[in-house]
Amino acid sequence: MILEGTHTRSIARTADGQGIRILDQRHLPWEIRWVELRDLDAAAVAIREMWTRGAPMIGATAAYGLAMALAVDASDAGLDAAYGTLVETRPTAINLRWALDQVRAAVQPLPEGERAAAAFARADAICDEDAELCRAIGEHGLALLRDLHAKNPDRPLNILTHCNAGWLATVDYGTATAPIYLAHDAGIPVHVWVDETRPRNQGALLTAFELRNHGVPHTVIADNAGGLLMMQGQVDAVIVGTDRVTANGDVCNKIGTYLKALAAHDNGVPFYVALPYTTFDPATASGADIPIEARSAEEVMRLTGPDETGRIATIRVTDSPALNPAFDVTPARLVTGYITERGVLATI
Ligand code: MRU
Repeated sequence: MILEGTHTRSIARTADGQGIRILDQRHLPWEIRWVELRDLDAAAVAIREMWTRGAPMIGATAAYGLAMALAVDASDAGLDAAYGTLVETRPTAINLRWALDQVRAAVQPLPEGERAAAAFARADAICDEDAELCRAIGEHGLALLRDLHAKNPDRPLNILTHCNAGWLATVDYGTATAPIYLAHDAGIPVHVWVDETRPRNQGALLTAFELRNHGVPHTVIADNAGGLLMMQGQVDAVIVGTDRVTANGDVCNKIGTYLKALAAHDNGVPFYVALPYTTFDPATASGADIPIEARSAEEVMRLTGPDETGRIATIRVTDSPALNPAFDVTPARLVTGYITERGVLATI
């Protein structure tokens, strides 16, 4: 990832190795604020309150959270309690459970005195692997984008994306954004339509911030605009990330993804889902079985950002009751392909 011109990662151990450093995404893009998390509670709060977010990233943060907990109490009871706390922080993205399972399996056979170090090592490996998985997703997606661009070589390739499935949501590259970054770096003229992604505006705030930092041309659009742009032939492909893909290929992702998939289907626009194997959940039969996170209605009713003077202000959007389901499910039949580290698959 490129942040203010420097290549870095969105999560790393602190200098003393005992904690982690993450970007506090609540303040982006207005302020770049790195925060240190040094214990289980801090990691749990950061995930639950969305200081950090995105399926692979919450998995990585949780893995370190478990390691930090084991540094305090490495008993079986301590392990179970910390696992239980972390797995409850957000219910939908399967990467969270996957990462916790990985760390637990690595430390369970060990004596208590060795568990924390082993957990930190496993969390480091999860991060290294995630960066590599996303890079591989990027390579396969790049080939796809090259082919798409060859169909209309005289104009930019227009990609629409929803929410933030970029490097803020992973350790590096992102999932949906990896092909875009690699295509841009390879000289393919790519332009991104960025859904604002109400209610938390991860597109307008985070994806646009990432693309700006990487120098990728982009335009933020209201969530409702994508259908018209597709109808007008202004979208060559949709690429989204996902929080969980079930055994039958259903795709759970940020609320509003399903509507984009419907519009893409109706307009013959290819709809791709980018994911590493850590987001595939073969144990869950279909999207109907995924727990959909219900977040606070306040997120729908309020907007926060700088006013004309730069002062951060919160304004009301409505005072009526609001509902805030955080994710929806796109049926497998609407998915053109899954861009994975192993290649672009027609079915999962
Ligand atoms: O609620 P969020 O912001 O954590 O939701 C994030 C998404 O829905 C992403 O698209 C998904 O996690 C994929 S991240 C590579």
